[in-house]
Amino acid sequence: MAYTIAVIPGDGTGPEVVDEGLKVLRAVAEKEKIQLDFHFYDLGGERYLKTGEILPESVLEELRKVQAIFLGAIGHPQVKSGILEQGILLRLRFTLDQYINLRPVKLYPGVETPLKDKGPEHINFVIIRENTEGLYTGAGGFLKKGTADEVAVQESINTRKGVERCLRYAFELCLKRNHELKLTLAGKTNVLNYASDLWARTFEEVAKEYPRVKTDYTHVDALCMWMIKNPEWFDVIVTDNLFGDIITDLGAMIQGGLGIAAGGNINPDPGGVSMFEPMGGSAPKYTGKNMINPMAAIAACQMMLDYFGEKKAAQRVEKAVAQVLEKHLKSMAAGEMGYTTREVGDLVVKYL
Ligand code: IPM
Ligand code: MN
Repeated sequence: MAYTIAVIPGDGTGPEVVDEGLKVLRAVAEKEKIQLDFHFYDLGGERYLKTGEILPESVLEELRKVQAIFLGAIGHPQVKSGILEQGILLRLRFTLDQYINLRPVKLYPGVETPLKDKGPEHINFVIIRENTEGLYTGAGGFLKKGTADEVAVQESINTRKGVERCLRYAFELCLKRNHELKLTLAGKTNVLNYASDLWARTFEEVAKEYPRVKTDYTHVDALCMWMIKNPEWFDVIVTDNLFGDIITDLGAMIQGGLGIAAGGNINPDPGGVSMFEPMGGSAPKYTGKNMINPMAAIAACQMMLDYFGEKKAAQRVEKAVAQVLEKHLKSMAAGEMGYTTREVGDLVVKYL
């Protein structure tokens, strides 16, 4: 099969990790006879500082036509925090209606977790974060800004349609994974009488169509405890945008850190364009040093292949990653891997 992929290396260490992801993609594509065409886009802090452009409409139009987007990192020390994140990352998620943020939490053998007495047999679940609604829509505003009577309102938007499609995806993924067939909804029904109530009611309704899936509910604060204490309880977790943002950082840490954590922004609808990215940021401190861990970017490429339905290629990458993690990398941290960024990419290619 042939695929057109838009590549947005972005800021900081983004281009370095993207290079390694592409190295692995090219190598596996050759072995599996897949045709990949890469189109590069220089979105990010440098372009913004030079031209004032964040995400031009013409680029968006082109991105609508590709099979997937591979993104490195967004965020620049000379650009006020929020401008690029909202103008590029969130705008892409929203405009392309990537309503699922899929973040696997899997501890590979040989990778260190900060959780005492827990190993790969305990840490293997997936978090599904709703990716287009909740507190992320920007709804709200100020009243009397800058005065002593200032009011700030930030509204959480939860639509029946948005919640339902996210929950349906979660149930389907649970069946597809075929692990424990258990789906946990995380919310805050004891306080958020409207938002969490809609989630809980819709969850119960949709669950009736999936009798094989065991359902469970937990308040999100308690979930943070259980993810540390009993991560083996979880198979698939589904939650809203902000809760999902928070718990996926927690998930990243227990699987070995941001050096290995990857995610997919998925639009599962026919013709939808999905975007894959390492979870880590632009890491200005390590930029240009050939020190950053590219595994998360490589794992993002594996998720992309899986999403394309290129199962053999995806498995090949996952196995190679697992081998390199087990046999070679001393640590997941930048500068402490025992190898440079490029050497890690080379190793993965060697094991493909
Ligand atoms: C993430 C990031 C983004 C988010 C930021 C950069 C806007 O933290 O992908 O989790 O909050 O979604
Ligand atoms: Mn986040």
